[in-house]
Amino acid sequence: PLSVREALVAKVDEGAKDVKIQGWVRSVRSQKEVLFLHVNDGSSLESLQIVAEPGLKNSAVSFGSSVEVCGVLVKSPGKKQSAELKAKEIRVIGDCDSQDFPFKIKERHPPEYVRQHPHLRCRTNTFASLLRVRSAATLAIQQFFQSNGYVHIHTPIITSNDCEGAGELFQVEAANRDQKGDGGFFGVPAFLTVSGQLHLEIMSGGFQKAFTFGPTFRAENSQGRRHLAEFYMVEAEISFTESLEDIMQVMENLFKDTTAAILSKCPEDMNFFFKYVSTGQQGSLEKMIKNNFIVMSYTEALEILTRATTSFQHKTEWGCDLQKEHEKYLVKHCGNIPVFVTDYPYDLKPFYARDNEDGPQRTVAAVDLLVPGIGELFGGSLREERLHFLQSRLDRLGLSDTYQWYLDLRRFGSVPHGGFGMGFERYLQCVVGVDNIKDTIPFPRFPYSCLL
Ligand code: 4AD
Ligand code: MG
Repeated sequence: PLSVREALVAKVDEGAKDVKIQGWVRSVRSQKEVLFLHVNDGSSLESLQIVAEPGLKNSAVSFGSSVEVCGVLVKSPGKKQSAELKAKEIRVIGDCDSQDFPFKIKERHPPEYVRQHPHLRCRTNTFASLLRVRSAATLAIQQFFQSNGYVHIHTPIITSNDCEGAGELFQVEAANRDQKGDGGFFGVPAFLTVSGQLHLEIMSGGFQKAFTFGPTFRAENSQGRRHLAEFYMVEAEISFTESLEDIMQVMENLFKDTTAAILSKCPEDMNFFFKYVSTGQQGSLEKMIKNNFIVMSYTEALEILTRATTSFQHKTEWGCDLQKEHEKYLVKHCGNIPVFVTDYPYDLKPFYARDNEDGPQRTVAAVDLLVPGIGELFGGSLREERLHFLQSRLDRLGLSDTYQWYLDLRRFGSVPHGGFGMGFERYLQCVVGVDNIKDTIPFPRFPYSCLL
């Protein structure tokens, strides 16, 4: 069989051969004796028009049913597509009761409604476009790293550590009592990973550049439009660098190269988003790609926030964490160009962040990238590679025993290094401009919701 995408662009000539198309019916229209169908198979946003001559009318063909159509490709009188299929045979593979089918012909259903049908969601234009863009972005990210000398590491999903130290862990245990044994299945408390960073840092003790791209999990009690309990993270770690700017450059390049790749690989789908989902997004994205990202320190950011005439819900004193409202203000202040905020207060960042030594435990070499519409998209830092600094911080946190192996990395050939993590769904949210992160992942997980 030919894919719909191939059929749509096929050169139609005289004496064309029979072709076969398989897919799902997106529209049915009867006109006198002639039946018009649109069939889509996920290969493109556009559906293929099928024209069935008199006598071929198949009453079982309904919106949502799956069909196999044989016929010849002919020149389409419509301007948009070059070809349509003149059917000789239409076979219904699986019928569909359009009355019960949750989606209606030609209707634009609100995302909240579509989300309630995760098992049928891929039949809608918006979600199918999203999934194609997501797939293209996955490849672009792999290509970005692999062509720049990074080795791809599969970091574990189940781990015994809490990388971010924020206690947002899901515990993993055997469901069957018989498998649990005395100290639980693993003999130690085990969790779903919140970040692959620490395992990636191990690898950066043997590889100059490493990356990982996999699922991460956070038991954050947030129903917010940018939080998921299960999300994919792109993480990189770079050795032999003492410069946060080096890390920031990779973050900026990753964002720009991936976005350019999606725009060139999925123009149809991206234009669909620009036209129907997020008007104004195209210009906004072009602006992000064209301009150099802005850099400011946390201290500068606080000065801007303190001077602001807007009144914020959360206080803005040096040392406070940046809230979503602050992030939004800063991005706007920077003309909607992504902004790196660097050198955060020591106490705001996890134990691994490198002390800037600009005062007693005052700031660390950590950076967040804030983007329009979302706020924080990346988090990164230089890692504390100096044994005595790390040892005393872990001592104070009571974590030295837990992290003996991490301290070992500073004993046996330590190198200055750093890296970052980018939330993949937040990235997609930022580029396609959908309002809610739940519409960027095939099966969203969030508090009180684990459908399917
Ligand atoms: O800022 P975070 O917590 O950083 C880390 O986990 C580092 N260990 C990464 C590293 O340096 N290797 O998370 C990184 C990014 C955030 O900036 C955000 O985009 C995304 O992950 N993120 C979430 N995305 C969706 N839902 C959530 N609940 C998220 N929490 C973080
Ligand atoms: Mg963060």
